[in-house]
Amino acid sequence: MNARVIDGKAIAAELRGQVAAGVAELKQRHGLTPGLAVVLVGGDPASQVYVTNKKKMTVEVGMRSFDYQLPADTTREALLAKVAELNADPGVHGILVQLPLPRKEDEALVIEAIDPAKDVDGFHPFNAGRLMTGQGGLIPCTPLGCLILLKRTLGDLSGKHAVVIGRSNIVGKPVAQLLLAESCTVTICHSRSRDIEALVRQGDIVVAAVGIPEMVKAGWIKPGATIIDVGINRIEKEGKTRLVGDAAYEEVSKIAGAITPVPGGVGPMTIACLLRNTLQAACRQHAVTCNVIAA
Ligand code: GUN
Repeated sequence: MNARVIDGKAIAAELRGQVAAGVAELKQRHGLTPGLAVVLVGGDPASQVYVTNKKKMTVEVGMRSFDYQLPADTTREALLAKVAELNADPGVHGILVQLPLPRKEDEALVIEAIDPAKDVDGFHPFNAGRLMTGQGGLIPCTPLGCLILLKRTLGDLSGKHAVVIGRSNIVGKPVAQLLLAESCTVTICHSRSRDIEALVRQGDIVVAAVGIPEMVKAGWIKPGATIIDVGINRIEKEGKTRLVGDAAYEEVSKIAGAITPVPGGVGPMTIACLLRNTLQAACRQHAVTCNVIAA
């Protein structure tokens, strides 16, 4: 039997619809329009496509979009000055600095410079700490998207064994925290893990976030498991560029119970969750309640 395909595109569209309703209510009741600022340093083509999409969808849900494309040689001081300007701007409720930065060593400093209340990526140590301690706050978008897809597919996650492959600050670590908060037993695997296949085979849930094309094979999967594939890898096959995930979709979908496709799985959820976070941030900054959709 082939696995059920988890339709991230449809679930993301539904979530954006709920966000749009929340934005309309905020405008009507409080005269408030949430604003999202995106800062892109340098001209990485993949980041540019992503940023263009974000901008389009921000406007579609009724928010203001502020976009800053800075040259690759922008100094650390100039970037920090831009962040400070956005922190002080009352029309901006969410700030996203697209990663990776051309100077990777500046990333931690720039993330820490963002006002935690406007940190819609949830990357600031304040929000990361709140996630770890279960205090709520702004949750990183891709992990939140994974959680929403899992809950939609499985309902209650409590007691399930979740195996996360990858330990990045953007996906692996926060998704593991979210799953722990849902009372999963969580295993985090990484490049130094021994016998990774045997570890992954224990998972009722597998979240693959390593960025290695088709690394996870059918033999790694417990029959019936739910696979969330975060990877978006460009590969050349028969002279054509194709997008593939971190799981070998064709073979894995013959063993798994449910699986996210690439594209059309986790990807669309990330932007939808970014918009959700921006609505949440705007409501909190103005101390108003709004129906921000729970995970
Ligand atoms: N680069 C890849 N994914 C993300 C993301 O979710 N946020 C930011 N800021 N940069 C990214």
